[in-house]
Amino acid sequence: MNRKEFVRLTGLGAASLAVLPGAKLFASPADTKVRMALIGTGLRGQEHLGLLLRRNDVDLVAICDVDERMLAFSRKLVDKSGKKMPEVFTGDNYAWKQLLAKHQPDGVIIATPWEWHKPMILGALDAGVKYVGTEVILGITLQDHWDVVHAAEKHNAHVMMMENVCYRRDVMAVLNMVRQGLFGEIIHLQGGYQHDLREVKFNDGVNPYGHGVEFGEKGFSEAHWRTEHSVHRNGDLYPTHGVGPLANYININRGNRFLSLCSFSSKARGLHNHIVKQGGEGHPNAKVEFKLGDVVTTSINCANGETILLQHDTNLPRPYSLGFRVQGTEGLWMDVNKGIYIQEKSAKAHQWDNAQGWLDKYDHPLWARWSKDSEGAGHGGMDFFVVHALVESIKRKIPTPMDVYDAATWSAITPLSESSIALGHQTVDFPDFTGGQWMYRKPVFSLTDEM
Ligand SMILES: NC(=O)c1ccc[n+]([C@@H]2O[C@H](COP(=O)([O-])OP(=O)(O)OC[C@H]3O[C@@H](n4cnc5c(N)ncnc54)[C@H](O)[C@@H]3O)[C@@H](O)[C@H]2O)c1
Repeated sequence: MNRKEFVRLTGLGAASLAVLPGAKLFASPADTKVRMALIGTGLRGQEHLGLLLRRNDVDLVAICDVDERMLAFSRKLVDKSGKKMPEVFTGDNYAWKQLLAKHQPDGVIIATPWEWHKPMILGALDAGVKYVGTEVILGITLQDHWDVVHAAEKHNAHVMMMENVCYRRDVMAVLNMVRQGLFGEIIHLQGGYQHDLREVKFNDGVNPYGHGVEFGEKGFSEAHWRTEHSVHRNGDLYPTHGVGPLANYININRGNRFLSLCSFSSKARGLHNHIVKQGGEGHPNAKVEFKLGDVVTTSINCANGETILLQHDTNLPRPYSLGFRVQGTEGLWMDVNKGIYIQEKSAKAHQWDNAQGWLDKYDHPLWARWSKDSEGAGHGGMDFFVVHALVESIKRKIPTPMDVYDAATWSAITPLSESSIALGHQTVDFPDFTGGQWMYRKPVFSLTDEM
């Protein structure tokens, strides 16, 4: 394939042509440390904490949480690291405001329940923080997403959603293959969040997983808050792990965009059945009516003609799988069967190759370079890369590789799918958070082995 065809197929601009091992596209990072803070030191926040503590280019100045038990876990992690104890802010739901006012960190990571993300992002931007990394899901309503976009623009600041699956090793190898045109022109993509969360949504208030069917006030960690969303909302509540990688494959907000969306929801049985099975018919939670359908299916169409199918499936017994499928005019990858097929290149016509050979061959240079550093990091190492990208962006004073438009676009699938279902499965228009700039913006995600 010649260079012209490659640009046409991938939509990559000339300046961002190849994934360049060893490329030095950025100025060398300053030899300074970045001053970071962490709001939310729950189970996810502690993973970020561990990664921040491992880095010699990070000075962790402050942490904040309202839960003494989570803070105790976090203090232990700091002690074990041998690093200086950050100042701890706690006491009420707005202690993070004092943290921001006092320390004005270079960057902050937010790992709190979904409903806190928007106020904390806006609070950080108002306090003058220029780099905000927020855990997945930017806000709750469509307006929340607009508010965050407008605030980032007003403050000329960077809001990056810590979408770690974009950095999964196989996902990145496939990105490399997509960019090199192996699958031809991309036609259809699938993904989702297919994870049996029954033992996350319920527990005994002490153990994070299983051991009971309590939630809300009596639940611990995500059972304390996440389950309420299954009681009150029906839509794709967690789209970003699935859609983030897919959006990178087809350059969403960078030459392409989502146009419209339609969602369907199945009946809701899984959570109720789990309560009855584990807690008995007489358990008070057996009376709770869950609004969230067990399997929510969403279709999206794109300006460049691709279709996307997303599934949210968290209430039924099933092994974990994000269900990726990336299909083009020359072949496809599916993660569930660990298969790749590329016509005239695969070993046998109409038969899957074991994907691993292809994934090894097209291992992304970022992984090739940093895999040792990522050892021991959460989710098979990919968590290292998302923190790395945020910290390196701060050091270089450059935009983050996933920006506020990506965060808003991916997260907006939730309120849009809720609207679609509530309107009787109507197709709803997708807002253009970039205000037309999607036509001119160029892909930036992981073009080199730097970040
Ligand atoms: N990217 C991933 O792989 C991944 C994995 C797990 C969770 N998450 C996301 O991370 C976020 C946190 O999830 P989690 O599993 O850590 O939940 P968690 O319940 O274990 O932690 C949330 C923490 O936020 C704290 N908190 C709540 N309100 C607060 C406030 N006003 N001020 C300060 N702290 C407050 C809670 O006390 C708790 O410690 C969620 O957005 C979740 O979806 C992402």
